[in-house]
Amino acid sequence: MLIRRGPDVRSSEITDERLYLKRREFLQAIGLATAGVAAGAIDLGAQAGRRPPRLGPVVKGPYGTAEPMTPYETVTTYNNFYEFATDKESPARLAAAFRTRPWKVKVDGECAHPADYDLDDLVRPQALQERVYRMRCVEAWSMVIPWVGIPLGDLVKRFEPTSRARFVEFTTLMDPRQMPGERQPVLDWPYVEGLRLDEATHPLTILAVGLYGVELPGQNGAPLRLVVPWKYGFKGIKSIVRIRFVARQPVSAWAREDSREYGFYANVNPHVDHPRWSQATERRFGEPSRRKTLMFNGYGDQVAGMYAGMDLRKNF
Ligand code: MTE
Repeated sequence: MLIRRGPDVRSSEITDERLYLKRREFLQAIGLATAGVAAGAIDLGAQAGRRPPRLGPVVKGPYGTAEPMTPYETVTTYNNFYEFATDKESPARLAAAFRTRPWKVKVDGECAHPADYDLDDLVRPQALQERVYRMRCVEAWSMVIPWVGIPLGDLVKRFEPTSRARFVEFTTLMDPRQMPGERQPVLDWPYVEGLRLDEATHPLTILAVGLYGVELPGQNGAPLRLVVPWKYGFKGIKSIVRIRFVARQPVSAWAREDSREYGFYANVNPHVDHPRWSQATERRFGEPSRRKTLMFNGYGDQVAGMYAGMDLRKNF
């Protein structure tokens, strides 16, 4: 978990994760981990549940990776979604009945077409692409996830940002009745994130509406979440209700919480450690040993140019 303090926190966290992975490895070994019904029957500690409806048609998008994908059951039962809970297993259960229709997204600020858009007008099914991306959480675990979504750049173009717009700010739904975590002062709700305009329009950046060919489950940020694969996972804001074009750098919820620990850029960088732990290596789900973390999460060829001349230790 990101915010817990104290020297004992990390070791217990890691132990939990190891135990969890061991259990998964055991289940995989005996062939149960991908069989939702059987897994549910022996209680994985989260809802195995039925898969959400299929999305379609979905075309293969660019920038895929051939690395083995993290199983659907893992991607949808080990989540960070503090609006529901601060542990990894509860969001799947607590978001099971999360209402994602009707869903409005307010687009405002420095753009020519501010309005409250209905999600289904914003994201047209015929434009859906699959993007298999490596994802690296700031907590040093990683997954490979086949997202389904649209390039955020296409949307940004439609809204026509003005010449004053330099950043894009995103906000998560505030609805404590549905999201029990928002009744706790864990973060200064609502969750806010931001990107520089060039990052937002970079072809790797997508708004996702699904994964593994199905609609996003609630715990993964239904019905609309940001995916920026060269940045730490916390930039991937979930359940977005507002997209605002602004002239000044937004203050994200995590930076507001602790700006020494969570920078605005949050580019994956093995050479800049988090103040409380190393970022040099990561634990990829399903792999027995840790692997080295790659600069920009391995997407440097595509994105390094955006940060040329910047001190990435200062702008972490
Ligand atoms: N968005 C919101 N609104 N609330 C959150 O708690 N957690 C972030 C990010 N987006 C979070 C969020 C973190 S820390 C990570 S690692 C990813 O979501 C996890 O996404 P996943 O559960 O789909 O793997």
